[in-house]
Amino acid sequence: MLINVVDIPDSRYSILSGRRLLNDMLARNWKLLACSILFLIGVSVFTAALAASTRLIVNDVFVAENADAAKRVAGIVVGIAFCKALFQYANTVSQIMLTRSVSVSIQKRLYSRVVHHDVADFIGMHANDLMARIRLYGVSAGNAFVIITNRMLTEALTMIALFGVMFYQDVWMTLLCTLILPLIFGLVSYLSRKVRSISAEEATLSGRYFAIGSEALSGIKTVKSYSLEQKSIRRFNLAVDQLENRIFSIVRISSVTGPLMEFLGGLVIGAFVIYAAWQTITNGKTPGEFTAFITAFLMAYEPAKKISKYWVELQKSLVQTGNLYEILDAENALNERGIIENLDGPSVLRFSDVSFTHDGSINVLQNISFSIEPGEFVAVVGKSGSGKSTLIDLIMRFYDPASGSVSLGGHDLRDINRQSLKQFIALVSQDVFLFDGTIRENINDGNTSAIVEQIIEATNFASLDKVIADLPNGIDTDVGANGTNLSGGQKQRVGIARAKIKNASLYIFDEATSALDAENERKILGNFSKIKGNATILFVTHRATALEFADRVLFLDSGEIAGFDTYRELLNSNEKFRLLFTDAR
Ligand SMILES: Nc1ncnc2c1ncn2[C@@H]1O[C@H](COP(=O)(O)OP(=O)(O)OP(=O)(O)O)[C@@H](O)[C@H]1O
Ligand SMILES: [Mg+2]
Repeated sequence: MLINVVDIPDSRYSILSGRRLLNDMLARNWKLLACSILFLIGVSVFTAALAASTRLIVNDVFVAENADAAKRVAGIVVGIAFCKALFQYANTVSQIMLTRSVSVSIQKRLYSRVVHHDVADFIGMHANDLMARIRLYGVSAGNAFVIITNRMLTEALTMIALFGVMFYQDVWMTLLCTLILPLIFGLVSYLSRKVRSISAEEATLSGRYFAIGSEALSGIKTVKSYSLEQKSIRRFNLAVDQLENRIFSIVRISSVTGPLMEFLGGLVIGAFVIYAAWQTITNGKTPGEFTAFITAFLMAYEPAKKISKYWVELQKSLVQTGNLYEILDAENALNERGIIENLDGPSVLRFSDVSFTHDGSINVLQNISFSIEPGEFVAVVGKSGSGKSTLIDLIMRFYDPASGSVSLGGHDLRDINRQSLKQFIALVSQDVFLFDGTIRENINDGNTSAIVEQIIEATNFASLDKVIADLPNGIDTDVGANGTNLSGGQKQRVGIARAKIKNASLYIFDEATSALDAENERKILGNFSKIKGNATILFVTHRATALEFADRVLFLDSGEIAGFDTYRELLNSNEKFRLLFTDAR
C-alpha cells in the first residue's frame, strides 16, 4: 500500500535503507563519485598545505630575515589558497550533481511506480500529498547519498589533515578580516540578489511540477484505461528536469560564496606575509604573532561542527529513504499474469455470481450474474449508490471480484493480458478527466494514430462539432487544467469523442451524458446505432431517454440485480423499476 509508510523507524531500518541506497546508486554514479573523491582529497590536502605553509613563513621569511623569500612565500600561500578554493568549488558542485542525480532518478522511479499502481491504492489519497512525498523522498535520498559518500568524508579528511597543526589565535587576523568585510558583503549581496531572482522562477516551476504530477494521478482511471502512463511519465520527467536544472543553477551561484571568502582570506594571508615581513625586518616584530594569525584561519573547529550537523541530517534523510523503498517495493494486488491477447471483435460479457466489497464487510455487489451478447446496447440503471460504477470498475479490472468471475468471450478477465483488455474497452467514466492541452490532443489520447477524418468523425459522433465551430481556436482550443475551460457537457463530449476514436469492441459510458441537454443527448444516443452491432455498449444512466434506445436494461438495486429485460417489459412487470422511472412516463 502506498500510504503505509513507516514514520518512526529504528536505527536498523535506517542502516538497511542506507546500505540499499548505496547498492542502488554507487554503480550508476561511479564516474561522478570518483571525481568527487578526487576533489575532496584536494580540499583536505590544500587545507593542510595552507596550515603547513606557516612553517615556511616563519623559517624562510622571519628567521632568515629574507625580503625576497617573503614574496615567494606570499606567492605560494596565495597559490595554495587559490587551489583550495578551486577544489572546494569543484567538490561542492560534484556534491550537488550527486544529490541531483540520485534525487532525480529516485523521483522518476517513484512516479513511474505510483502511476502503475492499482487503482485501489489511490482511494482516499490526495494526489498533491503523494507528489510532495515523492519530492521529499527523492531529495532526501539524494542528501543521504551525498552525506555518506562525500560530505562526511570531506570533513573527516580535513580534520585528519589538520590534526597535527598546533597554533594559537591572534587579534591581527580579526582586524585584517574586518578590512575585507565590506568587499565580501558587497559580493555576497550581489550573489544573493541573483539567487533570489532565479528562486522566483523556481517557485513557478515547482508549482508546475506538482500540477503536472497531480493532474495525471487524479485522473488515474483515464490514464489507465487509455494506457497514458507513458505520456504522464514523459510530462512529469520534463517538469522534474526543468525544476532540478533551476535549483542546480541557484546552488551553483550560492556555492561561490564559501570558496570566495576562503580565497579572500588567502589574499589576506598573502598581504599579511608581506606586511608582517616588512614589520619584522624594520620594526622587529616576532614570528610567533605571524604564525598565530595563520592558524586562526585554519582552525579545525569547522569540520567538527559540520560532521555533527551532517550526522543529524543523515538520520532524517535515511528515514525518508526507507519510506521510498516501501513504495518501490509495494506489490500490486491485482495479478498481471494474464496472457490471452486475441480479443478482437465483440465478445460475450458475462458476470458469474460476482460479489465485491471495498472494506471486507459490506458487499457493494452481491451475487451478480448476467451476460450481454456481442453488439448489444445495454442500459444500466439503479439508484445512486446501487453499484453501477463498481460494476464497471470490475469490467475495467480496476478491482477484481471478491468471489465469482467476470469474463469476456469465455475468458476470465484475470487471464486476459491487461493491455489487450484496455485496447478492447473504451470507457467514459462518471468523472470525465481531461489533460491540460487542446481538445484535439485530448481526443487523440484515445488513439494516437488517428487521422484528421477520424477526429472529425469522432467530434460529430459526440455532437461536439458545433461547440468546436464556435470556439475561437476551434479544435485547438486549450481545455485548461482538467478541462476547466469547458462546460460540464462539453467536457463530457470531448470524453465521448476520445472513446469513439479508440474503435473499441466494448464501449462503456458511465453517466457520460449526465451534464448534457436532452437534444444533444438524443443526438449522441442516435449515433450509437452506428457502432451498435459491431461493438457492445454499456450505458449507465439515471434518465429514461436512453432506455428507449437500449436493447435491454440492467436494473441494479442495492448491489443486486433487480431486473434485466427490455424497457417496456420492465415498466410493465417491475414495480421497483416503475417507481424509479415514474416521472418518465
Ligand atoms: N472506495 C470505496 N470504499 C468504500 N465504499 C465505496 C467506495 N467506493 C464506492 N463505495 C460504495 O459503493 C457503493 C456503490 O457505489 P457506486 O459508485 O458503484 O454507485 P453508483 O451506482 O455508481 O452510484 P451513482 O449513480 O451515484 O454514480 C456506494 O454505496 C458507495 O458508497
Ligand atoms: Mg456511479
